[in-house]
Amino acid sequence: MVKVITYGTFDLLHYGHIRLLERAKALGDYLIVGVTSDDYDKSRGKINNQQSLMERIAAVRATGLADEIIVEEYDGQKIDDIRRFGADVFTVGSDWTGKFDYLNEYCHVIYLPRTEGVSSTELRTERRKLRLGIVGFTTFLDKFVAECECVNGVDVASRFELSGTEADQKALENFLETVDAVYIVAPPEQHYFIARTALEKGRHVLCESPIATKEDEFGSLLALAEQKGLVLMEGIKTAFSTAYERLILLAKSGKIGQIVSVDATCTSIRKNTPVRARWNSISAWGPTALLPIFQLLGTDYQAMMISTRFLDEAANLDAFTKIDFTYSNAVASIKVAEGAKSEGNLIVSGTEGYIYVPAPWWKTDYFELRYENPKDNKRYFYQLDGEGIRYEIVAFARSINNPGEKSYISEKVSLAITKVMENFDARLHFTRLGDD
Ligand code: CTP
Repeated sequence: MVKVITYGTFDLLHYGHIRLLERAKALGDYLIVGVTSDDYDKSRGKINNQQSLMERIAAVRATGLADEIIVEEYDGQKIDDIRRFGADVFTVGSDWTGKFDYLNEYCHVIYLPRTEGVSSTELRTERRKLRLGIVGFTTFLDKFVAECECVNGVDVASRFELSGTEADQKALENFLETVDAVYIVAPPEQHYFIARTALEKGRHVLCESPIATKEDEFGSLLALAEQKGLVLMEGIKTAFSTAYERLILLAKSGKIGQIVSVDATCTSIRKNTPVRARWNSISAWGPTALLPIFQLLGTDYQAMMISTRFLDEAANLDAFTKIDFTYSNAVASIKVAEGAKSEGNLIVSGTEGYIYVPAPWWKTDYFELRYENPKDNKRYFYQLDGEGIRYEIVAFARSINNPGEKSYISEKVSLAITKVMENFDARLHFTRLGDD
């Protein structure tokens, strides 16, 4: 019996895939199809799959061509599989010509001509073309636009900035006519107005956090989005990085015992930042630093204490802010600064061990689980493309296309972030630090 093995992602299964499988099957008597896992695809930079592994497997199975389906999870697995199954032939499409010649050592390698004119990439692009408009300005705008280019089916249509005059409402409405969705990166005090105008116009919204600076404003935006069936997504790029997601899952599943403390620090001293792109420390870093606290310990803290050193209080510009939270069973703290420097790490302490994420933890691809006995320590590495911005855009496009999918950042967490901002602005639970 001649065994044939082939691999692929098989996203949105199309005619090209079916022809490949038919010809692969015809090369022998038994066809094994390896379907790439979601994690494996992510690790090789393929982040746009529209279908989950189970959906892709089901589609391959439905062709009736595969005698056996396996999951491809790691680099080098093909050699393992060929040996394990005793495969005689390895085949893939001619877009891979030469790439798998090294497998000739184990079996016969055949490249089959690729079917012209169809690909998953094209199908994804056709299905999901989203015209994204940017409202506001940030120093990382170019990075954001470049990351959009890496995501199938998302086009940055145009940019817009508020002028601060009465003409803004009309101009913004005109701008919104030209897009399907907006990414808001204007100063935080403008977010509510822009997001509300966009939602009223029926446009999906991805907004840099904080979405609003007052709880009731955030609540009204949420209600508006729900009523209109639109996506209102909090843009904290860290939330979308694989390493961050996984460390939250590990901590929640008890790997370090019960959590007793979460401490997050985010600082950056930015010289020469254009004034229109300048955010105060608490808005620029607060949401990111608060995220692991609220995601791990919940939002029902018993006490909050804010300590701030101002650069210019009248302009609400804080150089450094520390916030301490007390929960019934744990404590937490954030340190954020645009005018002071510290070690930007994240430490989650538990009764059995702790999670250490080195600086800059908000864009990390790596963390460690550490225990009393260093022999038990474990290191975790993950792929991080585009500092998480790319995954954030993918998640935004996905939730537009799949209404009902749970958002990465829950409404409760967003609301708790907004509440901290509101307390800061109202100087509640507040201590001013002197500058001498
Ligand atoms: N394939 C093919 N003809 C096509 C598309 C794919 O023969 N028009 C083959 C590939 O060469 C591979 C298998 O089908 O052997 C699975 O390909 P996959 O990468 O999953 O599909 P693509 O459409 O190429 O996906 P993408 O656009 O995401 O790269």
